[in-house]
Amino acid sequence: MPHMALENDLRRVHAYHCVSGDTYSPLHRDHDTGISMVAKQEEGVRARDELKASVQEFWDAASCGEVYASGSTDRERYESHARARYSLEPYIADFAMFASGRGRDVLEVGVGMGADHAEWARNGPRTLTGVDLTPRAIDHTKTRLAILNRASRLLVGDAENLPFPDESFDLVYSWGVLHHSPDTAQAIREVHRVLRPGGEARIMIYHSRSIVGALLWMRYGLLAGHPGLGLKKIYAEHLESPGTKAYSVRDARELVAMFNRSRVTTQLSFGDLLMGEVGQRHRSALLGLARRLWPRWLIRRRFANYGLMLLIEAVK
Ligand SMILES: C[S@@+](CC[C@H](N)C(=O)[O-])C[C@H]1O[C@@H](n2cnc3c(N)ncnc32)[C@H](O)[C@@H]1O
Repeated sequence: MPHMALENDLRRVHAYHCVSGDTYSPLHRDHDTGISMVAKQEEGVRARDELKASVQEFWDAASCGEVYASGSTDRERYESHARARYSLEPYIADFAMFASGRGRDVLEVGVGMGADHAEWARNGPRTLTGVDLTPRAIDHTKTRLAILNRASRLLVGDAENLPFPDESFDLVYSWGVLHHSPDTAQAIREVHRVLRPGGEARIMIYHSRSIVGALLWMRYGLLAGHPGLGLKKIYAEHLESPGTKAYSVRDARELVAMFNRSRVTTQLSFGDLLMGEVGQRHRSALLGLARRLWPRWLIRRRFANYGLMLLIEAVK
């Protein structure tokens, strides 16, 4: 029904444009084809808006990593979260190189609980700014920084439409965020836009050919009697927020093709190694057994290129 109403609206718009002599090309094509092209675009926009609303709802119900925040005070909770994060994921600090923010204008897109944001803040940036789609993440990060007595301009905002002028930052960092946004390519164009010439982007998005992907396929494809279930659907439906995407190294290079130079590498994650609280929402006796028997040494040695993390460094 809504689709039909939209078609009718578009027919009225079409009639108006034809009578007024407007030259907007899709409406000047063959009547039916023209209408359906515009309707398809509108539908695409609406579907993306709906998906973004469900992504926001998902992350507003619980920010990433809250499971690691234990203690009776905010300080204790944020400290325990940071300890767990950097002991499970030591590669974050290696990639972020927080000290490189010193004296620069730094933006973090998708701050989540704010552990990395606190590291940027500790390292003396000239200015620090953070955005996240959810008020919950912004509240966490504000509280964490207030405890540490550090400053940042923190805003609820959308990676696909960053509320900053062109060429505002020297460094843009985003860890595990842009693959959740419906239009990841648009979010990366925004990162490029807000960077100054020579500025650096450090972005982690998910890698499609990963051990996590294979494990999810076993659980929701093979063992559930759907061996034909594709990885795209698996990531979209069973890994974090709805519509989550994962990319090949080649896809990632294309996503940052507008930068002057870039480097894309992969990294085994704690998920690939079945460590920490990974797999909480996929609990089963089999997962418990797999966690005990998982051949981590073999994976590190022979399957190091099948990590879930795609690390992108790009210079504008
Ligand atoms: C997996 S969490 C990662 C958070 C943090 N970077 C970390 O590593 O813990 C994903 C975060 O991305 C945010 N997010 C998703 N889509 C976004 C968008 N379009 N713009 C800004 N933030 C977004 C979510 O609200 C959520 O806080």
